[in-house]
Amino acid sequence: MAKVYIPLDMAAVAMGADKLAAAVAQEAAARGENIEIVRNGSRGMLWLEPLIEVETPAGRVGYGPAKVSDVASLFDAGFLAGGAHALCVGIVDEHPWMKKQNRVTFVRCGVIDPLSVAEYEAHDGFKGLKRAFEIGPAAVVEEVTKSGLRGRGGAGFPTGIKWKTVADCPPGQKYVVVNADEGDSGTFADRMIMEGDPLSLIEGMLICGYAVGASKGYIYLRSEYPIVAKVFQAAIEKAHEAGWLGKNIKGSGFDFDIEQRIGAGAYVCGEETSLLESLEGKRGIVRAKPPLPAHVGLFGKPTVINNVLSMATVPMIMEKGAQHYADLGVGRSRGTMPLQIAGNVKYGGLFETDFGIPLGTVVIEIAGGTRSGRPIRAVQVGGPLGAYVPVSLFDLPIDYEAFAAKDSLIGHGGIVVFDDTVDMAWMARFGMEFCAIESCGKCTPCRIGSTRGVETIDKIRDGQNVEANIELLKDLCHTMKFGSLCALGGFAPYPVESALRHFPEDFHKPALEAAE
Ligand SMILES: Cc1cc2nc3c(=O)[nH]c(=O)nc-3n(C[C@H](O)[C@H](O)[C@H](O)COP(=O)(O)O)c2cc1C
Ligand code: SF4
Repeated sequence: MAKVYIPLDMAAVAMGADKLAAAVAQEAAARGENIEIVRNGSRGMLWLEPLIEVETPAGRVGYGPAKVSDVASLFDAGFLAGGAHALCVGIVDEHPWMKKQNRVTFVRCGVIDPLSVAEYEAHDGFKGLKRAFEIGPAAVVEEVTKSGLRGRGGAGFPTGIKWKTVADCPPGQKYVVVNADEGDSGTFADRMIMEGDPLSLIEGMLICGYAVGASKGYIYLRSEYPIVAKVFQAAIEKAHEAGWLGKNIKGSGFDFDIEQRIGAGAYVCGEETSLLESLEGKRGIVRAKPPLPAHVGLFGKPTVINNVLSMATVPMIMEKGAQHYADLGVGRSRGTMPLQIAGNVKYGGLFETDFGIPLGTVVIEIAGGTRSGRPIRAVQVGGPLGAYVPVSLFDLPIDYEAFAAKDSLIGHGGIVVFDDTVDMAWMARFGMEFCAIESCGKCTPCRIGSTRGVETIDKIRDGQNVEANIELLKDLCHTMKFGSLCALGGFAPYPVESALRHFPEDFHKPALEAAE
């Protein structure tokens, strides 16, 4: 029986994958072909979605982007045996986009049936947890610390240190919370892993719970991810049926359960303390720190909060050993980073690579430059709070410290490309406006400052007292950076300041042109 893979990934579904799967099933039945359709995750080559893959003795052959109207011709071309067709991209694993990567966190994404525990296990799944059970909780924390893994949610905080803080709290009720709010513009890695390899996140949570002494885990999921909600819930049920969740897991004496909660769409609810408020059923407002969530977290109990990617990387670290992961990367940025390439690019998608690759290589060689064919002008790295990086800084390696040294951030690994038609004063305004809309309102520099920032940029764009207003804007940015309670107000100035620093000419356009 031919095995055909058609992604259930949201990007693929948006491009017609569900209709395509139905059409392939119908055509196969009409032609008397016996096929099995697996709804897999995406391989991350989003410009090829929906990408149909067919298993052949030489490997999996891909066809994309495929439409319902291509189905008959695919069958005519013998695609079930890897036959030649205009949409054929060859053996998927041999595609340059795949060959240039080092897939560690995403090693199974797009490869396996996301809801098959047997396939997960056949691809090294649950080996990390088994090793954790063998070496014991304290050694697990030590291993995660030694791997050098840092939080992929944005702040890059060492994961092992966070886990040790919770592990060191007196025994009692503790929680594991996974931040799946994924609010940054141009990011989709959490979604992809939860759709394409949800059991890796479940395994990571199990290892964490075992290491810190927690028996309950929560996922806080972005409301705009309905497919994740379905797939992840099904994965929880499958893990239960197979004895990987629940009481006395595989005879270890360890109990663990996971519950999924869906947010209501506020960007600030990705901030860990307001996430906890929201999870407790309250309005998502930032809590002052200290106390840290590791000491006083969900329902007042010690809590580990980690991003999806941080948690989903742990099983591999436990399976292969800390050193294997620590050997990858550069400086204090160890391991790999799943970069998410978006905006005005020829090839957008998920590209996992060791830390240290220069930004320009990612944008020009991997992403193929702009889709418009025009010169690149700016790249925003790290979501809406990330700086705009000019082409002159394209040597900058993907490395937390190197980016920080240039007043920039890597954040969750989102890379959004703009060509030379972009108006950077407008983008600066957009950044401030985003902060004004999303501010939780708890502190003055962010709540009031962002609105005053929008007004000041409007005056600059309108040609009013330009130099004086630019000075005022810089002063305001300084106040927001150092006076805000959390990183929303504290980092909102980064895109504004970087636009002012690297693209000053856009703030000095003639009034009429700017007001267009
Ligand atoms: C305004 C704001 C939004 C955030 N949004 C997210 C998010 O969507 N996902 C995430 O994992 N972390 C987000 N963070 C970072 C979290 O506060 C926290 O650092 C992270 O979840 C910790 O996990 P990690 O150590 O694995 O990165 C956000 C922070 C701020 C200030
Ligand atoms: S910086 Fe903004 S989002 Fe953060 S606590 Fe203050 S008002 Fe709320």
